[in-house]
Amino acid sequence: MDAIDAIQRRISVRRFRPDPVPREIIERLLDCAVRAPNHKLTQPWRFAVVRGPARSRLAELRAGHRLKRYEDPRSDEAHAAAEKIRREAERTPAFIVVMCAVHSDELTREEDYAAAMMATENLLIAAESLGLGTYVKTGGIMQDPGVATLVGLEPGHRVAAIVSLGYPDEVESPRRRKPAAEVTRWVDA
Ligand SMILES: Cc1cc2nc3c(=O)[nH]c(=O)nc-3n(C[C@H](O)[C@H](O)[C@H](O)COP(=O)(O)O)c2cc1C
Repeated sequence: MDAIDAIQRRISVRRFRPDPVPREIIERLLDCAVRAPNHKLTQPWRFAVVRGPARSRLAELRAGHRLKRYEDPRSDEAHAAAEKIRREAERTPAFIVVMCAVHSDELTREEDYAAAMMATENLLIAAESLGLGTYVKTGGIMQDPGVATLVGLEPGHRVAAIVSLGYPDEVESPRRRKPAAEVTRWVDA
């Protein structure tokens, strides 16, 4: 599959077959991630691959995080939502946690974050081209100290995204976008 097909076909996949993703495949994806452009070659990214039994630690953290959204975390509703998140995480064959340097200079910090997210997109597109599904998650769990411990977050770094990875167990059409022509101004003269 060429890059354009992979970009056009990629969708966020949240249900995966239980088949594990071989380590060599994940290494290929990460090799694509680190090809992303990055200003002054800061290479601000770090990655942690969470697989096997370690997934249940992440599942637990995600479930705990979901509980925080509820006024009464002991309610049936909160419990059911947390269980759903836990099951979803436990059924995900692998997670790639993308981390990023947090520079003291604001512009560098912004550029580094952009580069880390470009690396993430490279990974998503490479995964699509190899028949794998992905789903990017950000949000409050990025700041969870439990996640930092799990992935061995280095000082001066933050978690930028968590990518779920596996062989898709769902077939969906790409979600709609506004056509590029609607959001593009051509400035020729
Ligand atoms: C930075 C970022 C953060 C995201 N965070 C979440 C998330 O927390 N939960 C979620 O369900 N989807 C998340 N997504 C996935 C988007 O919801 C998804 O890309 C969007 O609905 C478009 O669908 P598509 O990826 O299938 O085209 C995130 C995507 C990006 C780029």
